[in-house]
Amino acid sequence: MAIDNPPSSSSTRPAAVPAAGADAGLRGQAAVTPADADAASRPALSRRRQLETWRRASKVLPGGTNSNFRAWGEQTVYVDRGKGGRIWDADGNEFVDLRMGYGPVILGHADPRVDDAVNERMRRGVSFSLTSEDEVRVAELIAEMTFCEMARMTVSGTEATMHAIRVARGFTRRDKIVKFEGQYHGVHDYALISVLPNDVSALGDRDNPVRLAWGRGIPQAITQTVIPAPYNDLATLRRVFEREGDDIAAVLIEPVLGNAQGILPGEGFLQGVRDITREFGALLIFDEVKTGFRFAPGGAAEYFGVTPDLATYAKAMGNGYPAAAFGGRRDVMSVLPDHVSHGGTYAGNRVAAAAAVATLTILRETDALETIRRTGERMQQGLGEVISRRGLPHVFTGHPAMFGVMFAERMPNDYRGWAQTDHELYDAVAAGMIRRGAMPEPDSREPWFVCEAHAADDSVDRVVATFAAALDEALEARAG
Ligand SMILES: Cc1ncc(COP(=O)(O)O)c(C=O)c1O
Repeated sequence: MAIDNPPSSSSTRPAAVPAAGADAGLRGQAAVTPADADAASRPALSRRRQLETWRRASKVLPGGTNSNFRAWGEQTVYVDRGKGGRIWDADGNEFVDLRMGYGPVILGHADPRVDDAVNERMRRGVSFSLTSEDEVRVAELIAEMTFCEMARMTVSGTEATMHAIRVARGFTRRDKIVKFEGQYHGVHDYALISVLPNDVSALGDRDNPVRLAWGRGIPQAITQTVIPAPYNDLATLRRVFEREGDDIAAVLIEPVLGNAQGILPGEGFLQGVRDITREFGALLIFDEVKTGFRFAPGGAAEYFGVTPDLATYAKAMGNGYPAAAFGGRRDVMSVLPDHVSHGGTYAGNRVAAAAAVATLTILRETDALETIRRTGERMQQGLGEVISRRGLPHVFTGHPAMFGVMFAERMPNDYRGWAQTDHELYDAVAAGMIRRGAMPEPDSREPWFVCEAHAADDSVDRVVATFAAALDEALEARAG
């Protein structure tokens, strides 16, 4: 079976992961390379216990972890606990957490408001494959906060995008899906096309991109139903629709390029996508797995003022518990239950539903999102001063609640543009920050996530101070 790109170290390595040694499929790399760790002048973390665990784990867990994206070779982190905006690894090292579990922990780790609600429900039994009132309340909250008129719960963002795609196909009775290069929508086959190669030339010609399958195991027949297009480029999207519009069920788009530090849509881009999908009778699906309930109560749809037909939600809706959903227009969602398959033993499970009711209620009824936005802005201000003092060009991407910093003169337009930024400098800074006790993802493509609890202590100051020291170290290393 031919796939568009034979797996190679660049094509199969998930985003956010500096290469861990020579191994290709690992998402994360060592934040701290062995060479770095040897540098006596630099702070070094104690890693004895984690290294032992990694050796033990690697015998029974591929890569020593349950996700490619966490497999950072010898630098794989084994976590002990988290509280608020901090985490502690198994060797007792403390970090200001800027990953927040890749986004879901929007209030803070071990938030008692959510945990108490979950614990109370758990004591009544967790699995019935029957429907609880909490599930009804989750759908009501989604309807009250977003454009969705109806929603169904799933367990993960992957399932949410998979089901939204199927609903769109079932509603339109068309097969093809347009997605954008550099966008990550989870790990089902239809989502793993033209995601995040390290070498952007693997995406092919910009005007006629290849369908780049991420790794082996994705049937070619499936790649033929997914059309990749460059983000922020309405002319190319229009050409795709003029060529294949009669077969296109939906455009699936993350409103910002969340896996390229949140590169923003250009003026009129999202509205243009909305208009083109309407013109050709296709649906518009916003993947709000990262942006939902974070950019605004109504997610990126509210923030950018563009309303899709369907949307997917996950991370922020459960403060870290495995809650997710897809939803949208009543007429579209009404292909369920009679015409399109959706189910799942754990869909709407007790724990997820209780967590979602508690989290969404807090996000709706308190000023948590405002606190998070202000905290992110404070962080950006501090970082901006540090970088400007050193005379380096930089841009902030995304939203203050989920932002990236790129060493570049201007914000790139699309995923290919990320490769033009000085991401090697960013990677070196991220590694230095981790050694000093603040943990962003050690890869320049993953944004930083701010939680409500970061406002409650000195997290902002610590992040800015570790960033400044790590930047100086990286610049010194580069100079000499
Ligand atoms: C935009 C987007 N969609 C979908 C997913 C997949 O979600 P999950 O990891 O819960 O399957 C992710 C995960 O990072 C994501 O960022």
